[in-house]
Amino acid sequence: MGINFIKSVSGAVAVAALLVSGAASAKDFRLGLITPPSHIWSKAAEDFGADLAKATDGAHTLQVFPSQQLGNEAEMMQQLQTGALDMAFLTVAEVSNRVPDFGAFYAPFLADDIGHAGRILQSDLAASMLSDLPAKAGVVGVAYGMAGLRQIVAKGEVASAADLKGKKLRITPFAPILDFYNALGAAPTPMPLPAVYDALANGQVDAIDMDAELIWKLKYFEQAETVIVSNHMMFPMVGLVSARVWKDLSEEDRATISELMKARLDEVVTTFVKMDPEWLQQVEDTGTPYTEVGAEFFGDVPAQWDAIWSEKSSVLGEMRAAAAAAK
Ligand code: BEZ
Repeated sequence: MGINFIKSVSGAVAVAALLVSGAASAKDFRLGLITPPSHIWSKAAEDFGADLAKATDGAHTLQVFPSQQLGNEAEMMQQLQTGALDMAFLTVAEVSNRVPDFGAFYAPFLADDIGHAGRILQSDLAASMLSDLPAKAGVVGVAYGMAGLRQIVAKGEVASAADLKGKKLRITPFAPILDFYNALGAAPTPMPLPAVYDALANGQVDAIDMDAELIWKLKYFEQAETVIVSNHMMFPMVGLVSARVWKDLSEEDRATISELMKARLDEVVTTFVKMDPEWLQQVEDTGTPYTEVGAEFFGDVPAQWDAIWSEKSSVLGEMRAAAAAAK
């Protein structure tokens, strides 16, 4: 009881200090994301909220809204821009729909492996792209997270890329992946994450583009006959704060939020780097037909993609150079 009393008094003092100084006011921030509560991103958001409350003695708190409770990513992006939402962890895919330069992160086979993907996210280019976001999208980019590399799970046998031609293949709704599967001759079907399981189970799609964690944990492999481990693209995430909310924060609050959010997103990257191969191993161990393929599986599709995206993203060449330097 004594400790609780001391905690509540110190919290009250912190709030009073913020109000008296006028530098900032206590705030209950809201953070939205599309992943389910059990997902690594959602847990990182909860941990960040707990860190923020602790660091500010309860003056600032955070409510996390997982499973697209506040809307899909496009809607959350709009809410960030108007200041209706304070923070979000969004796929870089969504950001690339607004700022096409970010499409360069999806250059096919940019990363040799998951560790390399993590290093690309630490490059100076990746950092400088974040600093462009307030001007280009009305959001402050704090740091990157990720969700591993992309794989394909398909119904039926897939011996070569030709077997994917005409197949309805679920993609995350964003242009770089749409261009990739269009070039392959598949029938890419944009669909947000929460709709994927049912769509695969009921045959609405023949295949999905997905990461290792969810293929394993959400048991997508059980709904399909072939897992193709291609590692064909990275899948970065970004921690965002509304620029409208940011401008009213004190320098101290900005520093605290940046430092604490970045620490939790760095942890997300570290977890995926460690776990991606383990999740794939667990899928393989189930005996589900499992094929590892390289860039050659996709023929000239990666080159076609580069030709399209060298027009759409001004940093594609720099991104390939940054990836080469991060090997
Ligand atoms: C997806 O669209 O496949 C996805 C989105 C967020 C986290 C992981 C996967």
